[in-house]
Amino acid sequence: MGINKLLYLIFWYIKIKFFNKKIPLQTVIFITNICNYNCKHCCVDKTAPTKMTFEEVKEHLIYSYKLGSRFVDFEGGEPIQWSDGDKNINDLCNLAKEIGFFSTTVTTNASKDFSFVNADHIFISLDGLKTHNFIRGEQAFENLSKNIKNFPSHNKVSANMVINSINKNDTQNVLNFVEKSPYINGISFNFYNPVNNDNTLCVKNKEEIINTIIKYKKKGYKIINTKTGLNYLKNPTFPKTCFITNFITADNERYSGCPNSPNHNCNICGLGMAGEMKALYDFSLETILSGIKLRLTK
Ligand SMILES: C[S@@+](CC[C@H](N)C(=O)[O-])C[C@H]1O[C@@H](n2cnc3c(N)ncnc32)[C@H](O)[C@@H]1O
Ligand code: SF4
Repeated sequence: MGINKLLYLIFWYIKIKFFNKKIPLQTVIFITNICNYNCKHCCVDKTAPTKMTFEEVKEHLIYSYKLGSRFVDFEGGEPIQWSDGDKNINDLCNLAKEIGFFSTTVTTNASKDFSFVNADHIFISLDGLKTHNFIRGEQAFENLSKNIKNFPSHNKVSANMVINSINKNDTQNVLNFVEKSPYINGISFNFYNPVNNDNTLCVKNKEEIINTIIKYKKKGYKIINTKTGLNYLKNPTFPKTCFITNFITADNERYSGCPNSPNHNCNICGLGMAGEMKALYDFSLETILSGIKLRLTK
């Protein structure tokens, strides 16, 4: 990490912590809500299929950069299937870098070959071994297993698991799978966030599951969530610092913080990011080092 980036991060922190400025550091852009899957837990409203144009994404990137954001995650729908004329996801990653973002990530369901994607980091959604297909559809696990092998830089690929009432007993299987896989560099965990206030997929023994994840982390398993962030997730009634990530949804709506917050009970938030942002705000060294490792080292 260069000195300029480090200085930027230090000044950003001083401004948010000591001058109470609500400046985002990360941006999540849902460039489309169109997807080839229909996962049981999915929070994306796909009733009116829509995708941003290249120019719209450009405007959102410039807007977010001017707000202060320096990290961008392209999401969907399925972002690697996004296109506008001859532009594809790589043009968006290149554009973000030209504008001045420090790093780009893309989150994909890994249903199709993603070996062409030039983002700095790629998250693939892995929701179980036995349960992945039940949640995501037939052949989803087989497709993911095939496509991760084709990606040229395995140290750039991490998994993301959303734990819910269907797959909670598969968590340790997933941990062992990732640990043994030469194609996946690490795994982050989230818990199901209720969609339309439907709690059916929420887990009741979240604390127990988090303690198990922490136990594996202490053993050295490649878990991206920090212990501090995971402990926050056990009881997410802590004061939120979600302004650290601004969101833009496929319908071009801009949110300071999470798009769920207006209609959602944030005291049951399952997003690992909420705990990590709080830990960052509290200057948890573990979280800072983990963030630098994930976002700013090659
Ligand atoms: C919205 S998807 C978009 C990217 C891509 N289609 C995929 O599935 O990876 C991004 C991530 O959000 C997760 N997600 C979707 N609905 C969720 C929910 N209700 N609660 C928590 N995470 C959710 C997905 O499992 C996925 O890892
Ligand atoms: S693949 Fe992603 S966007 Fe598509 S339905 Fe599943 S979670 Fe939603």
